[in-house]
Amino acid sequence: MADLMLNSVTKIYRPRGREAVRAVSGLDMAVGDGEIIALLGSSGCGKTSTLRMITGFEAVSEGSISLGGRRLNELRPAERNVAMAFEGYSLYPPLTVRDNVAFALLRERAPREEVVRKVAEVAELVGIADSLDRFPSTISSGQQQRASLARALIRPAALHLLDEPMSQLEPQVRAILRARIKEWLKDRGMTAVVVTHDQTDAIALADRIAVMEASRLMQFATPAELRERPANLFVASFIGEPPMNLIEAEVAVGASGPRVVAPAAGSALTLDLPQTAALPAGHRVWLGLSPRHLAVGQGPHRAEVMVNQWLGDQTHLALEIDGLPLTAVAAGMVDAVPGEVVPFAVEPRGIHLFDCAEGAAIYHGSAEAA
Ligand SMILES: Nc1ncnc2c1ncn2[C@@H]1O[C@H](COP(=O)(O)OP(=O)(O)OP(=O)(O)O)[C@@H](O)[C@H]1O
Ligand SMILES: [Mg+2]
Repeated sequence: MADLMLNSVTKIYRPRGREAVRAVSGLDMAVGDGEIIALLGSSGCGKTSTLRMITGFEAVSEGSISLGGRRLNELRPAERNVAMAFEGYSLYPPLTVRDNVAFALLRERAPREEVVRKVAEVAELVGIADSLDRFPSTISSGQQQRASLARALIRPAALHLLDEPMSQLEPQVRAILRARIKEWLKDRGMTAVVVTHDQTDAIALADRIAVMEASRLMQFATPAELRERPANLFVASFIGEPPMNLIEAEVAVGASGPRVVAPAAGSALTLDLPQTAALPAGHRVWLGLSPRHLAVGQGPHRAEVMVNQWLGDQTHLALEIDGLPLTAVAAGMVDAVPGEVVPFAVEPRGIHLFDCAEGAAIYHGSAEAA
């Protein structure tokens, strides 16, 4: 059983002569057996520090980590049964790529045929079959990264940690490789935590995504939940390409129930909310409108088209209402030129409200909402 539990895990670095750095703050996370988790966040948010505490290369400052019910905090890295592919690859320079990849199996004295078969299989998977007899210093950084990934994937371990395993690879290769990695992990029922700052990678690879920002966990949920029910303003502004439109607004009470008005758009953007949305009038909020739920072509609202970009499979529209910018995404081509005023509708499930002071989500529209 590979359940990984992090309870209030905190990392504080205390570099000599410099101020202490809080790299991870009170992280709570439960990862199920066979689950693939992505740790997603911008540079410096604490992703690598989290992985290094799980492997034991960094001490946990506060809190506890356990794997399969066994507390890891005091165990040495070798006792933890955790495999990791490092951000900096750290291949052994005097060994060939083949011996680097086979290292863990050779150390465990696995039968020769098994080592040969597994190395061939994993080298094929990551695309380094041609480089197996070369030394790390004579291959490109992208190949070194693949070798490091292969070295981690080949290991039988209760948990696999992959730190930015594809950062050096070009987009087309990444798309293929992440699908292969996912298949490899799922076929073998492996539990994995994959660090990335690319949300497309995270969405494609992971069952659930842990979004981190400035040492804290902002939300831990499935890709669909992050999109449809972002827990706070940060996740709303971070997830989605393009991200959600965020507009300062206010809750009001209309003839037919609660509504939200955006003064920045004049009176042009007033949206009715369902009766069930129990929100006090006058409450100041951030109104989030997801670009894919702004349906251009018909509807009660009007906006001016500033830019109309056809991307080959979808259209991105930059719109303006009374000077307020809005982004809309349509699945097909939209027949509108810059300067044109177009009607649009806001689909109920595209409406989100966040508390102005705290940033916490206070309302998510649903497909059923009136
Ligand atoms: N050994 C260390 N000593 C002091 N501060 C450190 C140390 N390692 C990391 N930090 C700091 O801790 C914070 C988190 O770093 P970490 O490497 O975990 O971030 P990350 O999310 O992996 O970033 P990146 O995407 O750039 O790899 C950063 O502010 C970093 O500067
Ligand atoms: Mg890192």
